[in-house]
Amino acid sequence: MFANSITMCNFVNDTVNQKPHGADKANKHVMKNILIIGATGQIGSELTMNLRSIYGNGHVVAGYIKGAEPKGELLESGPAEICDITDAQNIADVVRKYKVDTIYNLAALLSVVAEGKPLLAWHIGIGGLWNVLEVARENKCAVFTPSSIGSFGPGTPAYKTPQDTIQRPKTIYGISKVTGELLSDYYYNKYGVDTRSVRFPGLISNVTPPGGGTTDYAVDIYYSAVRGEKFICPIAQGTYMDMMYMPDALNACVQLMEADPTRLVHRNSFNIASMSFEPNQIFEAIREELPGFQMEYQVDPLKQAIASSWPDCLDDMCARNEWDWNPQYDLHSMTVDMLEKLSARL
Ligand code: SER
Repeated sequence: MFANSITMCNFVNDTVNQKPHGADKANKHVMKNILIIGATGQIGSELTMNLRSIYGNGHVVAGYIKGAEPKGELLESGPAEICDITDAQNIADVVRKYKVDTIYNLAALLSVVAEGKPLLAWHIGIGGLWNVLEVARENKCAVFTPSSIGSFGPGTPAYKTPQDTIQRPKTIYGISKVTGELLSDYYYNKYGVDTRSVRFPGLISNVTPPGGGTTDYAVDIYYSAVRGEKFICPIAQGTYMDMMYMPDALNACVQLMEADPTRLVHRNSFNIASMSFEPNQIFEAIREELPGFQMEYQVDPLKQAIASSWPDCLDDMCARNEWDWNPQYDLHSMTVDMLEKLSARL
């Protein structure tokens, strides 16, 4: 537990932001035809629209499963196909139909849900990843698969968690994330498949809510605030976790996949960070904008056990050095934007 502030994990300094010679090559967009598996989920729904704005609507296929069909702009702005990560043939058919060269593999169960369905979490997280990697090997695709702060465990240094360190998570979510990192590196080393990944913190967005994660409280709190309700916080005061606003997370995906491969020392997976806070700090940040907002703690034992096993804040120097990671939002600017967007919508 730390007494210091939310900026404690801001490791930016002048030397790390200098680009090595030749780094500008990395700015060329080389992706042409992209498949997003899990396009209607928390990250996918925004990443699909973001990639369509960069590469053209017709070049980004929204892959979804039955029961999670795309709607509205997501459906109307570009191609969409059923793409079940547990069905390798289905993935291969979509990849060939659209001549896909880059796959964003976003299918996963979040940490709390996964604890209730460990076999399904593994089936999707690892069986599914294996399908994606095989299709990518056969069709020469690059692959992005998110890892997470959940890939670390209680034996990991919690403060300024290094890029390369102990990864012995206690959750099935974390176990599948570490395995996914290793399997992705294996496919790169053995077959040359261009696999890349980041370890996402808790992601905060005002578009599609997360479902069943440990960090969800940091999204839910904004909905309560805007609705004028008291927030019941399931995570104990003093529990620090890394968090990130979705626009920065989307930039991380695109920037890493566009990065010059000759600069990448690491691949699966990069620590990335932008802010770390504990519940009282996000509560106070909201109260600066909405002074009447109330919060009460009712700690959820499962969520708390998971949160306590995760790092307080990651050291993301390797991402900053190898592909110029440079997040834009802090807790204050994110809070102002979240409250403005949610107030307009709710
Ligand atoms: N947001 C995820 C979760 O809480 C962690 O990556 O499960």
